[in-house]
Amino acid sequence: MSEMEFTWLGHAAWLVRINTTTLVIDPFLNDSPTSPLRAEQISVEYVLVSHGHSDHVGDAAAIANRCSATLVSNYEITEWFRSKHGVKNVIGMNLGGAVELPFGRVKLTNAFHSSQLPDGSYGGNPAGFLLQVPGKNVYFACDTGLFGDMQLIGTVGLDLAVLPIGDLFTMGIDDSLEATRLLRPRRVAPSHYNTWPPISQDAERWATRIRQETNSQPIVIQPGQSFRID
Ligand code: NI
Ligand code: MN
Repeated sequence: MSEMEFTWLGHAAWLVRINTTTLVIDPFLNDSPTSPLRAEQISVEYVLVSHGHSDHVGDAAAIANRCSATLVSNYEITEWFRSKHGVKNVIGMNLGGAVELPFGRVKLTNAFHSSQLPDGSYGGNPAGFLLQVPGKNVYFACDTGLFGDMQLIGTVGLDLAVLPIGDLFTMGIDDSLEATRLLRPRRVAPSHYNTWPPISQDAERWATRIRQETNSQPIVIQPGQSFRID
């Protein structure tokens, strides 16, 4: 069994500790109005980037280079980090593919979104991440609208799903409830909201609806806070 701890770094950035391994997902920190940490303050072994938008690419190159971390993303994005930012250790993937890493398995899942990189380069297809570590399955939907195949992703039995709720650029609250019913995770946490006024949401209202309208347990934390699953 693995112990997993999740720290919300604001927006869609999450620090995930799996036993003694630490990874960061979509580390948009230094330009984020809600990040509790500077990019210089985190130390990780892996950097996962879901798609090419600047609010996800963020400080990924600086963190990967300083920490000699391995950057995991789609092939177009890892090539961009390698050739334009000198990131040495990369694992380029594509949708539906998985890679076995020392801490567990990382699978790139579908996401309905776009993925242009900050300099206009083609960023491949946007993705989510399914993390399968011994005894636990965790799904980060990342930036996406609702899609029916979330039901397939849920068939592994999810201990946690992290879903965007901000609306406008991703699914909003109503669709996150439907996503939760399709995924059937034990726990569900909201992401990609309250960073800027256009994606402000009432997370307590969301949590109340999750409790009333799904069988999943909502977990709402503030940027800088953490929770564990066991
Ligand atoms: Ni995006
Ligand atoms: Mn985004």
